[in-house]
Amino acid sequence: MFAFSSFFRGASPESGRGSGKVVEAYTEWDPLEEVVVGTVKGAIVPPWDSITEATMPSHAEWFFKKYGEQPFPQEMIESATQELDNLAAVLEKLGVKVRRPEPIDFSVEYQTPWWKSRGLYAAMPRDVLMVVGDTIIEAPMAWRTRYFEVFAYRKLIKEYFDQGARWLAAPKSTMGGEFYDPLYDSDHPYVDGVKRFPITEAEVAFDAADFVRFGKDILVQKSHVTNSSGIEWVRRHLGHEYRVHEVEFDDPHPMHIDTTIVPLAPGKIIANPVWVKKLPEMFSSWDVLTPPPPAKPFDSALYFSSDWLSLNMLSVDEKRVIVEEQEKPLIDALVKWGFEPIPIPFRNFYPFGGSVHCATLDVRRRGSLKSYFS
Ligand code: NVA
Repeated sequence: MFAFSSFFRGASPESGRGSGKVVEAYTEWDPLEEVVVGTVKGAIVPPWDSITEATMPSHAEWFFKKYGEQPFPQEMIESATQELDNLAAVLEKLGVKVRRPEPIDFSVEYQTPWWKSRGLYAAMPRDVLMVVGDTIIEAPMAWRTRYFEVFAYRKLIKEYFDQGARWLAAPKSTMGGEFYDPLYDSDHPYVDGVKRFPITEAEVAFDAADFVRFGKDILVQKSHVTNSSGIEWVRRHLGHEYRVHEVEFDDPHPMHIDTTIVPLAPGKIIANPVWVKKLPEMFSSWDVLTPPPPAKPFDSALYFSSDWLSLNMLSVDEKRVIVEEQEKPLIDALVKWGFEPIPIPFRNFYPFGGSVHCATLDVRRRGSLKSYFS
């Protein structure tokens, strides 16, 4: 495992916490000081059901049918674990404090009054938790397999709480009958030109990864796991200091916004060339960077996601960004745009459904609350 040594000049020169807060982040690009890196240990493959079918690439059906409700194959776990451990080591070398979740036993079948399920994994802290300012927010999630996932992070969250962080947990839905739309048809995601979703508005639902932070402005998309009630819940709880903007792009099966738009620095954003035909007016004075196609278009090992995991990067600061090492066209483009990509091996993590952004949660970035739009 390696990463380019020239980048290890220290992420945070004075590394002291300006405000003294243990949890604090306003953007995706302020200098990173503390991060959670997920784990694939104990990961269980979800069953192939209507909710998986709504979001998974159809070529992956065989994988879920073969392994559904069983542990991920051991060799997948081992190779992804090596890459996650290397990511943690790279971040530490950059001066970033790294924390890891404590996986719960995801193989245990649990029961609510409405249904039974097994768990999934603690691989993607980005999906489950969101840091806005000094508040850590637990997402309610929308998959039954993820109902208890947050407990893998609870010890950490409690520790942050004890050190002064604010802590909000969104109301969990029953995920019972009324929560899923029986009429949703994944082959026809638009009805009369309107995008449809497999979840209804009967309860509050969102995944944290459908939100993206630009200081006082936060963008969010409705998706297969985020509904209008979820967006409104976040908006009301963040209050008047923040503006939560709902955006819609052209991904017919949206779930998590972090391969669609990727802010890298004030005034600089990568926009997915397939799904983003038009950015909201607020970006009219921003540099909109068009990325090259992913290095390996149509990768059949991507069971959960599109090939655009190439864009799922983690910013260390406004210049340096951690990116998968095989994404060479993107790495070249980042250099051309004036960034300093830090390539790491992460290809074996992709089959779990994410890349470096999904696998991490920035707990603290040095910065303050600002408006980046005039
Ligand atoms: N659903 C998106 C985001 C995955 C992290 C995709 O497949 O690209």
